[in-house]
Amino acid sequence: MSSIAVLGCMWGDEAKAKIVDYLGITADVVVRFQGGANAGHTIHHGGRKYVFHLVPSGILNPDTICVIGAGVVIDPRALENEMEQLRGQGVEISHRLLIDERCGLVLALHQDLDRRAEHAKGEQKIGTTLRGIGPAYSDLTARVALRIGDLKHPEWTRQRLAQLYDYHGQAVSTGELESVATSLFESWQRLSDFVTTVDDKLYDWYLQDKRILFEGAQGTLLDLSYGTYPFVTSSHTSVGGIPVGCGLPLRCINKVIGVYKAYSTRVGDGPFPTELTDAVGDRIRKQGNEYGSTTGRPRRCGWFDAVAAKYTARINGVDTLAVTLLDVLSGLESVKICTGYWVDNQRLDYFPSDLHLLPQLQTEYLTLKGWEQDLGECRGLHQLPRAAKDYLEAIQDLLERPVELISVGRDRDQTIVVRS
Ligand code: IMO
Ligand code: MG
Repeated sequence: MSSIAVLGCMWGDEAKAKIVDYLGITADVVVRFQGGANAGHTIHHGGRKYVFHLVPSGILNPDTICVIGAGVVIDPRALENEMEQLRGQGVEISHRLLIDERCGLVLALHQDLDRRAEHAKGEQKIGTTLRGIGPAYSDLTARVALRIGDLKHPEWTRQRLAQLYDYHGQAVSTGELESVATSLFESWQRLSDFVTTVDDKLYDWYLQDKRILFEGAQGTLLDLSYGTYPFVTSSHTSVGGIPVGCGLPLRCINKVIGVYKAYSTRVGDGPFPTELTDAVGDRIRKQGNEYGSTTGRPRRCGWFDAVAAKYTARINGVDTLAVTLLDVLSGLESVKICTGYWVDNQRLDYFPSDLHLLPQLQTEYLTLKGWEQDLGECRGLHQLPRAAKDYLEAIQDLLERPVELISVGRDRDQTIVVRS
């Protein structure tokens, strides 16, 4: 049996898609299991740039089936736009995309609620992507949401819509409700061929030894339970999100690859112990082109945080590490890795869950020699400069897991596979 989970293990944007794309060449099935159009997964392939929000990144490989599991929330208009754009780029989607009929729907109402909730929080805003993700998941939990499969039944959909607006205390005219319903029915016309149940198919494929790849969105420090709550997203981004989000039993996850950037970034608000607000941070942002692929916002940049990273490796049962964007650190005189926190003269060697403690942490660093060499052409571990190898070894030792993949550039072939 072979299934691999590729999980972002920090605050998202770890270049998961690059790793999914690389491994996806040999995958039969790629599965998204949580999140929604808040994700922005970028792949550079054949001189072209592809950005995915809802469609699994495996769609570029013509032999791969792409699955959107029940744990994903779908904005039908965003999905249709994305499919349209992909078709325009020559990507064949028919018969290769399956959407679970249980997926919750993200409506314009949710984006409106997202915007208003952020506005009301003022200084304490989360800095969401404003894609309506939080409100859509809240409605699912409150059992008032519409699911994509509901659209089969027009009368039921109208009823549920009316109840939903009522639940949110929003007065809408019959005409307005009908126009929302009509646009949903139009989307249904275009999407219904893709909508099915995916849990049964995934289980059969698993038994047939098909290679299944789970594509995580966001990262573990944005997980609803294990992230820096409330500065998190509203889904379970950690490994536990997989069985719940696609209906495959837990034991069908055979291997977990944790994706970590060679440094840290965070987009949106919330604690970030190793954040650099100086010229080094600016340099990393520039070199790494650290601007959000969904919202275009500049990302906050900082050093690799081995304390946080070790925590997320444990939470996810990470087997091996993929270290991405290593090339971005070239040219720095020295590079640092956070190995511990201090608060009130006490050393902490764990990632605290107390939101009030997190901003007070002083960071303890291991400083290593930097390297000058551009890494873009390196295709084997032996081609990396000694200092870069030392840096990776330090990460490996601190996380107590082997590095299996190293990314030294955005293209698929700018990947180093470490054979143990
Ligand atoms: P990928 O899959 C980085 C962040 C937002 C905000 C918080 C909540 O590309 O790694 P939300 O809109 O989900 O309610 O916002 O989560 N966030 C991401 N940050 N990468 C992402 O996705 C993200 N998706 C959401 O910036 O801080
Ligand atoms: Mg992204």
